[in-house]
Amino acid sequence: MNHELVIVLDFGGQYNQLIARRVRQENVYAEVLHFTTPIEEIVAKNPKGIIFTGGPSVVYEDDAPKIDPKIFDLGIPILGICYGSQLMGYTLGGKVEKAPNREYGNTEMKVQTDHVLFKDVEEQTTAWMSHTYYVSEPPAGFTITATTDSCPVAAMANEDKKLYAVQFHPEVNHTPEGQKMLLNFLVGVCGCKQDWVMTDFAQEQITKLKEKIGDKKVLLALSGGVDSSVAAVLIHRAVGKQLTCIFVDHGLLRKNEGDDVERIFGEEFDMNIIRVNCEDQFLDRLAGVADPEKKRMIIGEEFIRIFESEAKKIGTVDFLVQGTIYPDVIESGTKDAAVIKSHHNVGGLPEHVDFKEIIEPLRDLFKDEVRNVGRAVDIPEFLVSRQPFPGPGLAIRVIGAITKDKLDILREADWIFREEVKLAGIAPSLGQYFAVLTNLRSVGVMGDERTYDYTVALRSVDTSDFMTADWSRIPYEVLAKVSNRIVNEVNHVNRICYDITSKPPATIEWE
Ligand code: XMP
Repeated sequence: MNHELVIVLDFGGQYNQLIARRVRQENVYAEVLHFTTPIEEIVAKNPKGIIFTGGPSVVYEDDAPKIDPKIFDLGIPILGICYGSQLMGYTLGGKVEKAPNREYGNTEMKVQTDHVLFKDVEEQTTAWMSHTYYVSEPPAGFTITATTDSCPVAAMANEDKKLYAVQFHPEVNHTPEGQKMLLNFLVGVCGCKQDWVMTDFAQEQITKLKEKIGDKKVLLALSGGVDSSVAAVLIHRAVGKQLTCIFVDHGLLRKNEGDDVERIFGEEFDMNIIRVNCEDQFLDRLAGVADPEKKRMIIGEEFIRIFESEAKKIGTVDFLVQGTIYPDVIESGTKDAAVIKSHHNVGGLPEHVDFKEIIEPLRDLFKDEVRNVGRAVDIPEFLVSRQPFPGPGLAIRVIGAITKDKLDILREADWIFREEVKLAGIAPSLGQYFAVLTNLRSVGVMGDERTYDYTVALRSVDTSDFMTADWSRIPYEVLAKVSNRIVNEVNHVNRICYDITSKPPATIEWE
């Protein structure tokens, strides 16, 4: 590894990967390591800086994560965040106490703007606080560099030893100037040159994968979506034809999608790809099924069954690749959340395939970082910037029972919508946009003829996390053009509606 590295030392906080991502966003590579990582191992990696994350513990309890005090004498700059700040304070002889009032949420903070960490930050700024304990007295050698009404040491620093600590969370969006503070730490304190790019990550992953896989066989379920495509290309770059991709085409994809996947990955990338065309099987099993959850279940089961039987033909493989990305890891961690929709993805595969180990090359990355890896390995832009597409595909966008005819109508309408959005140049500002074939038919007039045809709903949302969303204010002219084109060009559609509900109370998909 010949680029600069910042180590994020994980004390169990929920934002540990987010901190790493914020650092990478500034073109400095960051890696998350567990707090128990031996100091020698940390030193051997030659980091330019270390960041201690937050965490749920209380520093002076017996089972709380501790740190070897030697770490503070290495001369490597350290930034402690929340628990990390308290740990630094406590370990170096300061005082940590239970705050009289738990501080949670947006808090006004006064900072010393002449201090390196707060360069270019407003003197009165907002910080996101979430703590019950705090440093009440800094250790010897430290000065206080920020305060809030209820937090006497919102930030502290020991300039000589290059030790910095903040009680708040600079990594979250709720601290509007937080990114500036992180940048100040990276550049102003650690002296990082900001010359890391995603291409380096891709190259390193490819080298690591090559070492790990050796001459063994690898299997991957390719959906054509961003995550599985990027994972496939990385593995392919590492071990070429030792990778087999199985692409189960369930006939529920958007217009041209199946052929695009086959052409781009099979021909242009020259990957070993098996396309299994099983539209008929899926449509047979889905015939007459109107319940969305039942559709998902059938598609999930059928997908696994087909993948499994194709995989059997290949025989035992050594590795199964999954395109898991970091948000998937978090989501699968929230077991207590109510099931609104049982999102189908390939998570069920491992139980059904004969393999020795799972490889997840994108596990630590956020979606936009995965897209950048995709760009770094030359996946065409239209695939890389593709909006999310649900595993059950158009089956949950044809409301009610599915037929091939309905799917074809929807494919055409959706294509026109997407084409016009692209032509209008508004695609990058929209989170997700698509057409839905409602199960509603209504009366219209075309020429002199009465029609009795389907209503297509257009849906477009603005969202950053897909958990909440607002409907997009698409310009009327664009909507008018889409509406005109769909009723004129797609048979059996005579009415277009635009969905103006946010999530909640609606969801993004209609089923
Ligand atoms: P909802 O409709 O729940 O959608 O607001 C949130 C995001 O999840 C996608 N979605 C799915 N993705 N399998 C998937 O892989 C599913 O069954 C599924 N249902 C919804 C949806 O497209 C949106 O991006």
